[in-house]
Amino acid sequence: MARSDLPLPQLELPSLRGFGETTRRDAWWIQPVVVFGVLAAFVVYATWAAFQGKNYFYDGGGAHYLSPFYSPLLFGQPNEPRIFDAVSPGWWPAWLPFSPALLILGAPVGFRMTCYYYRGAYYKAFWGDPPNCGVGEPGFRGTRYRGERWLPLVLQNAHRYFFYLAVIFIGILLWDGIRAFFFHTDEGTRFGIGVGSVVLLLNAIFLGMYTFGCHCARHIGGGHVDEPSKAPIRHACWTCVTALNKRHMLWAWISLIWVGWSDVYVRLCCAGSFTDWRVVF
Ligand code: FES
Repeated sequence: MARSDLPLPQLELPSLRGFGETTRRDAWWIQPVVVFGVLAAFVVYATWAAFQGKNYFYDGGGAHYLSPFYSPLLFGQPNEPRIFDAVSPGWWPAWLPFSPALLILGAPVGFRMTCYYYRGAYYKAFWGDPPNCGVGEPGFRGTRYRGERWLPLVLQNAHRYFFYLAVIFIGILLWDGIRAFFFHTDEGTRFGIGVGSVVLLLNAIFLGMYTFGCHCARHIGGGHVDEPSKAPIRHACWTCVTALNKRHMLWAWISLIWVGWSDVYVRLCCAGSFTDWRVVF
């Protein structure tokens, strides 16, 4: 093999930066600060709402509005659209206050927490790991990069299984949204349009845009096919999912804020703070 006598260039590796050190001149800190603020506010509100165990189903004036934080409603009061004919499961520990949301929220929370977009966002915003691209990390983590190949972060790989659950939830929430357009009246069940109907239907649509733009959906929809020209239907699926996937971050935030707003709306209707404007035909 021919050898060059030219001297090898002296490469200088960049030295480790201290936490927050950077040569960036833009306002790189705005993004993690905003993500931290919005996500933290949502987590605090959602936790509070999940433990309330009341004001999640509004049936005033024959409406049928179920908060998405409590859907599907496995257990509940007799006048509520519960699946099992009981207020709470018999095995629920007596020392723990019961709320139906606690039985179901693990699936959507797990789906969001393991989302590829959110991982990047909250690793930056909550752990500063790194705070943003090209910005020094905190020293407490040590110098050995372990990535997501070890516990606990290896559990993030469960995302595709949460995706399957999320698809079921989208179907249920879509049904809730459609159901919200039908009102019980003295003449029977009538079609109508209330503010709550629109809020709940949009909730299912926004969550669907987020869920079906998932990277897993892209793979399942056709990304795994080696020769797309031989699988036109899968290629069409892949193309549709890719269109949503390009705006995955946008749908992640819109759906997060709207699902919180949907719970707020139902809750305030139940409390009598809101009047649900509607027309019933
Ligand atoms: S990657 Fe975000 S929901 Fe799957």
